[in-house]
Amino acid sequence: MAILLKNGSIAAENGVREADLLLQDEKIVQIGAGLKPGLDTEVIDCAGKYILPGIIDAHVHFHMPCGPSERTIDDFYSGSVAAACGGVTTVIDYVEPENDQGPLEAVAARKKEADGAICIDYGLHYVVNRWEEKLFESWEQVIDSGLASFKVFTTYDSSRLPYEDVAKLLAWSKKRGVLVTVHAEEDDIIQAAKKELTREGHLQPAYHGKSRPVESEAAAVKKIIALAGETGSRVYFVHISTCEAAQLIGQAQKEGKQILGETCPHYLVLGDEVYAGADPQWYIMCPPLREKEKQPFLWSALKEGVFSVVASDHCAFSKEQKGRSRTFFETLSGIPGVETLLPVMYAYGVAPGQITMTRLVELLSTNPARLFGLYPQKGVIRTGSDGDIVVFDPQKEVELSYHRLHSKAGYSPFKDMHVKGCPEITVLRGKVIYRGEQFCGAKGYGKFVPGRI
Ligand code: URP
Ligand code: ZN
Ligand code: ZN
Ligand code: ZN
Repeated sequence: MAILLKNGSIAAENGVREADLLLQDEKIVQIGAGLKPGLDTEVIDCAGKYILPGIIDAHVHFHMPCGPSERTIDDFYSGSVAAACGGVTTVIDYVEPENDQGPLEAVAARKKEADGAICIDYGLHYVVNRWEEKLFESWEQVIDSGLASFKVFTTYDSSRLPYEDVAKLLAWSKKRGVLVTVHAEEDDIIQAAKKELTREGHLQPAYHGKSRPVESEAAAVKKIIALAGETGSRVYFVHISTCEAAQLIGQAQKEGKQILGETCPHYLVLGDEVYAGADPQWYIMCPPLREKEKQPFLWSALKEGVFSVVASDHCAFSKEQKGRSRTFFETLSGIPGVETLLPVMYAYGVAPGQITMTRLVELLSTNPARLFGLYPQKGVIRTGSDGDIVVFDPQKEVELSYHRLHSKAGYSPFKDMHVKGCPEITVLRGKVIYRGEQFCGAKGYGKFVPGRI
């Protein structure tokens, strides 16, 4: 069975053009004007619609362990159903080895959780959460097994890597060509803020934002850029929330350093006033939401190319999980977002003219594919690439309330938004997996896609 997409506007990294697109045997096989269907071809009329390469959400946490007894609420099945309904055809999740696990064992265990459950394609980043010289050799094997990027945290008791170890990893990554991604928040500043809030008796979820001040992100970004500069290594900062950090990243780029940045829709459209609202715990994520007044600077950084990727950091917990703790530091941290990534970025980015459609495709598909070693199999509309496609209706209005969404979180941080523009059809490797507001993919159809350096 082949699929012929007729009369659509193909939005690719290099511009928008009218053309037909033929998908067959999991691949894009032909692009051009006036293509005719063969036998056993489904023709889909895409007049008035955009055709985008499948979205690649480079930052998600499905079925992520949090302490001994908790996991994020979306497993590889429910998370990937939500993704498919939002036009996402590939996610990149994480391998976080436990103390007694060797690196390859941890990779295998994570793949076992995903395979058979996930209904879209996926890649993995490898988290370095402890340091031993002897791990170098297994990391080589981790790379060979298809993980092209590593991740470190400068905060969180469970996974923080001291700066001197980050420096060693950066030096090694330079030799190996692997991309190191960094969660940058300065732990000392966070601990000092927490101490002060404890003294004042301000430990409720409403104080979450105050516990992780702007300076904590900027300070960690500054230190990591300095370390990367010493070795000439490439670094990718995940979920940048502040213009101060964006400025440091932009400055480093001007100096010729290989520093990359990712931000998330919530930092671009939600503000910290929600912490004074009725359900502050729903908006607890790290780093926290910032002042709304500063958002234009983040959008400028996005336009100017300081950020290469926008990803969701989908890390969903149910309302019940979120509501269990009385303090900000015990409340499970993270929000759902994989399904709203594309519609939010279209409605707040493309529709008001903040970014072009071409830039949207770059940020949500082509750049993550390139940076994480999936290009040109993914991230581009080109003959020979995977038949991963979103048919996007720029006119259709939807409400981003949880009733319409598929995460098991049971709430949506974007609940008050009515947006114009949403995915109509999602195709993964030539198979329709979402259409007519219905998920129609199959459990286990998703495959691991090795990232290649
Ligand atoms: O609060 C968040 N973002 N939780 C997910 C883990 C992380 O730091 O990305
Ligand atoms: Zn993080
Ligand atoms: Zn008070
Ligand atoms: Zn994350």
